[in-house]
Amino acid sequence: QELAQAFTVLPNENKASDARREELIDKPAFGQLFSDSMAHMSWTKGEGWSDRRIEPYAPLKLDPGASVLHYAQEVFEGLKAYHHADGSVWLFRPDANAERLQNSARRLYLPEVSIDDFLGSVAALTMQDVKWVPTRREYTLYLRPFIFASEPFLGVRAPEEVEYCVIASPSGPYFPGEIKPVSIWVENKYFRTGPGGTGYAKCGGNYAASLLGEYRGIEQGCEQVCFVDAATQTYLEELGGMNMMVVHKDGHVETPSLTGSILPGITRRSIIQLLQDDGHDVVETMIALDQLLEDIKSGEVTEVFACGTAAIVTPIGRFKSETFDIEVNGGKPGELTMAIRNQLLGIQLGEIEDPHNWMWKV
Ligand code: COI
Repeated sequence: QELAQAFTVLPNENKASDARREELIDKPAFGQLFSDSMAHMSWTKGEGWSDRRIEPYAPLKLDPGASVLHYAQEVFEGLKAYHHADGSVWLFRPDANAERLQNSARRLYLPEVSIDDFLGSVAALTMQDVKWVPTRREYTLYLRPFIFASEPFLGVRAPEEVEYCVIASPSGPYFPGEIKPVSIWVENKYFRTGPGGTGYAKCGGNYAASLLGEYRGIEQGCEQVCFVDAATQTYLEELGGMNMMVVHKDGHVETPSLTGSILPGITRRSIIQLLQDDGHDVVETMIALDQLLEDIKSGEVTEVFACGTAAIVTPIGRFKSETFDIEVNGGKPGELTMAIRNQLLGIQLGEIEDPHNWMWKV
């Protein structure tokens, strides 16, 4: 809250009425609705970051020559503000997002946002938007911080003008409806990233690169795509926008190791911790696709699930490609998958104890 004071709240004549806002946030879909404020600060090579402000949510003025539009110098984060039963509002591990944004910025040669500015901006916006946090269970205010190169310049080099914004989207579940296992298309032709690439950075380009594979999957009736490593086309990496975990029948859990081409998910890291707290052995390793298919068939692997800020924990019910089509756990959500989902969500919603002090009160 103290860090938020660095952000000056500018007058806002576009604020929604209480009645209108309450109607809007009752049951929003994921990522379609935006609040009426945003956090913003600007950077120049000479002056560093300045002009910290909370301003009315509005279209940005961007020069058509802005280098982000040409060379994709952009990195972002995703985190959620949760409404608790007593009316308080909390963030989940925002310090971890702050650190990851710095790592991503370094990879794209963008200036870093300090941890204090990151925390100050998300706290200031959440305080401003506290009434935009949905109260319905599993509905949250999804915060999207992002940094981009705004300098109008067509040379390929580090930008000298950069903007940082945080926008807020009252959102429902990423996969709407009842919890049902998703089908995964295993893509073997188009890769998301490669060795030495931007895979570990949360940059828009990774998500753009995932879309062709994702839509090849959608054409085959799948909801998500899973990428394999580009170098050997042998090992599972991650889905289009979330990490993956594999549960074995003896209760041990495997997840692809952070090889540099995988996003180090904060939900991934948190689930590893919670599973270990609970006595599960968790192995971060290279998971070969062929071995996984064999283990699903033999019953050695009993559950597979996706995890991410947006997706929380989502069961995977099927893997499909041009050469196979195989169900996991009879296409039903697994027991451990649902237990870990309830535990994580319980912590985030303040319903159960938060043993690692992951929640930050706004
Ligand atoms: C998130 O989980 O927060 C992401 O950024 C992934 C995106 C697919 C929404």
